[in-house]
Amino acid sequence: MADDGSILVTGAAGQLGAVGRTVTRLLLDRGLPVRAMVRREDDRAAALRAAGAEVVVGDLLEPADVYRVVSGCRRVYFGMSVSAGYLEATVTMAAVAREVGLDALVNMSQMTVSQMSIQNTTPSPQQRQHWLSEQALAWSGLPVVTIRPTVFLEGFFLPLTGPSVRDRGRIELPFGLGKTSPVAAADVARVVAAVLADPGPHLGRIYELTGPRSQDMHGVAREYSDALNREITYSDIPPEDWERELKRAGLPDHLTRHLVTMAGLNRAGRYDRMTDGVERVTSRPAMSVREFVSLHADEFGGRRSRMSSAVVGLKGPRRRQDKKRKRGGSGSRTVAGIRLPWQTLPSQRLIG
Ligand SMILES: NC(=O)c1ccc[n+]([C@@H]2O[C@H](COP(=O)([O-])OP(=O)(O)OC[C@H]3O[C@@H](n4cnc5c(N)ncnc54)[C@H](OP(=O)(O)O)[C@@H]3O)[C@@H](O)[C@H]2O)c1
Repeated sequence: MADDGSILVTGAAGQLGAVGRTVTRLLLDRGLPVRAMVRREDDRAAALRAAGAEVVVGDLLEPADVYRVVSGCRRVYFGMSVSAGYLEATVTMAAVAREVGLDALVNMSQMTVSQMSIQNTTPSPQQRQHWLSEQALAWSGLPVVTIRPTVFLEGFFLPLTGPSVRDRGRIELPFGLGKTSPVAAADVARVVAAVLADPGPHLGRIYELTGPRSQDMHGVAREYSDALNREITYSDIPPEDWERELKRAGLPDHLTRHLVTMAGLNRAGRYDRMTDGVERVTSRPAMSVREFVSLHADEFGGRRSRMSSAVVGLKGPRRRQDKKRKRGGSGSRTVAGIRLPWQTLPSQRLIG
């Protein structure tokens, strides 16, 4: 198959983590040609086109669509929102990639997979599908690079703690005292973009990605407090109440079971992981919770300003860095009490 030099980025419109959208921007910033795959024409597709990407529309569950969008590309980022068809989409991509030939397939997975085996699985259908997807890609013989992040700050902490932090000054999650090391999807995207830009040294590797600190939720709450300049506390809520709330929000069963499993694994200390994957690949450390909450302060109800802190906290290089990171826009709307980024359209797919 002829190589037109483009890099295919799937899931490029972006919902929550929006890794694909950020990867597209980072590759374009490097001057590389990007074919950005979206599911439909909308404002997000128009924005990608305006930024310089070739936008293609298709469904990752439709083999003919996948064949059409992959053809002509030798490097692919494969990722899409958490959904029941994830394994089918991965295997479809693998079949097409074997047919047309690729130089690199960067596959989005999850950190939990590293602790899974035939004998030791989890109740999350998403995690099971990621485990099987990794198996299938290994059998495929394709040149794969595997990305296994821990929980996303954008895709989990922002939508699921934003409203309670804004309204009650509390992080309300059933995480017990388990430690956790959330990572910014923006950092995950930096890793993916670096790999796609020069895949050779990375082929066959698995990158496990965490934030810079593993701590319990009281520690996470202290980082929120520092970022927002007001007291944020952690409330360990009963898992059954949380599950009921997720169901009330109308989430699909696949997603609810995934989130409930994540919470259980957090309580059991299974997210107490630390790696230097982000820094190793990008030469820049991973973003802290405090930095992330500072960047999204409005979505967490705002930073309490005092004359002294406004001067000390938000002037100078830090403020310029924050502004730069904010480019590309943010915003949100609330669905059934859960804060979603503005880009999210249907309420059915919350966490990606
Ligand atoms: N959230 C977390 O905490 C976390 C942690 C570790 C790993 N991950 C992994 O990260 C991945 C999600 O990444 P993300 O947050 O960057 O995704 P995302 O932004 O939520 O979604 C990416 C895009 O996938 C598109 N999509 C969904 N189904 C599709 C289909 N059938 N065909 C074509 N496009 C489709 C969606 O299009 P529309 O917007 O048009 O619907 C969406 O824009 C998953 O593999 C997840 O397991 C997530």
